Amino acid sequence: MQDFLVIDHVSKSFGALRAVDAVSLSIMQGEVFSLLGPSGCGKTTLLRMLAGFERPDSGRILLKGADITDLPPEKRPVNTVFQNYALFPHLSVSENIAFGLQMKRRSKPEIRSAVERMIALVRMEEHATKNPAQLSGGQKQRVAIARALINEPQVLLLDEPLAALDLKLRQHMLTELTALQREVGTTFVYVTHDQGEALSLSHRIAVMNQGRVEQLASPATLYESPANAFVAGFIGDANFFRGVVQEILPGGHVRVEIEGLGHPHVTGSPTLKIGEAVRVMIRPENLHLSAQCPAATEPANSFPALVDEVIYFGPHQRLRLRASALIVHAQQNRQDQSLLFKVGTSLRVSFDPKVARIVSE
Ligand SMILES: Nc1ncnc2c1ncn2[C@@H]1O[C@H](COP(=O)(O)OP(=O)(O)OP(=O)(O)O)[C@@H](O)[C@H]1O
Ligand SMILES: [Mg+2]
Repeated sequence: MQDFLVIDHVSKSFGALRAVDAVSLSIMQGEVFSLLGPSGCGKTTLLRMLAGFERPDSGRILLKGADITDLPPEKRPVNTVFQNYALFPHLSVSENIAFGLQMKRRSKPEIRSAVERMIALVRMEEHATKNPAQLSGGQKQRVAIARALINEPQVLLLDEPLAALDLKLRQHMLTELTALQREVGTTFVYVTHDQGEALSLSHRIAVMNQGRVEQLASPATLYESPANAFVAGFIGDANFFRGVVQEILPGGHVRVEIEGLGHPHVTGSPTLKIGEAVRVMIRPENLHLSAQCPAATEPANSFPALVDEVIYFGPHQRLRLRASALIVHAQQNRQDQSLLFKVGTSLRVSFDPKVARIVSE
């Protein structure tokens, strides 16, 4: 596929602060691409440069090969949906949606049919004559999306569009947004600090930290093979253990000494050196828990632990375990009624070498 929207070494500073630091990204046509990262990492600043509201200090932005870095916002085939809806309060739903085409002086019949199509697309038929004040948050956000899409932008920029909604509505809107994007096929650049939103919506995600991209990958790759400790810790929950490389094994495995856990086999690159200090990451759900078994049968990737705390989470329970001086977080499916561990229980923890990964700092 041809590169569609290219961000080429783009930087932007505010005084001494480098809000966006030499970011390069290539976004495909029709892709749902997310910028994910903690508050203040530069997501909105990068999005505003794509929209044309902010000028990069250096670097270029290309759309279909054409340099749009210096194009004003209204000249770009790009529309933005913000967190706070930004609807005109005195105009009805229909009039809000029609606004962009009226500005372009399209004919009345053309506007009417486009507005009807958009209202049907975002399922607002029953609310077309209402004013924004009469709408719920989710309905307002649907209007904001329709108002942007009526311009048939080549790229739709969305900056935390669901942040003001409650959890249930957010989940509902996520499903709707996915369906909507599939229907219109418009390229979406979606900004969020919510990993759940990014993971469920995106084809690819750029994880940002302090103005830089830490990793660019599919949701599954980010979760299963995080490039470093920041990404591993930001997306999902993770146990981190400090260890020392003891032996490089065949098949991409490494034997590591972790105080309190013994000498497990983990996944790591063959460039590691014996004696090197490393960090090993294991997701709580990848730890297998079983009732205590005799120490003699103990495989390398198994250690005894004591249940310190149990936290109820609806469909599953979270366990805080103690293994010597280490705290280990694990998870149990509550359907597994036969084996729901309680505080004070001794148990055995084991894990597959492929779910224990050495991550760089
Ligand atoms: N106009 C501005 N003037 C000065 N500093 C700014 C300006 N806009 C943003 N910043 C700073 O640049 C950094 C990046 O801001 P940005 O709004 O891009 O972050 P963000 O990732 O969108 O965060 P959030 O998730 O909180 O919206 C922050 O430290 C912010 O304070
Ligand atoms: Mg922001």
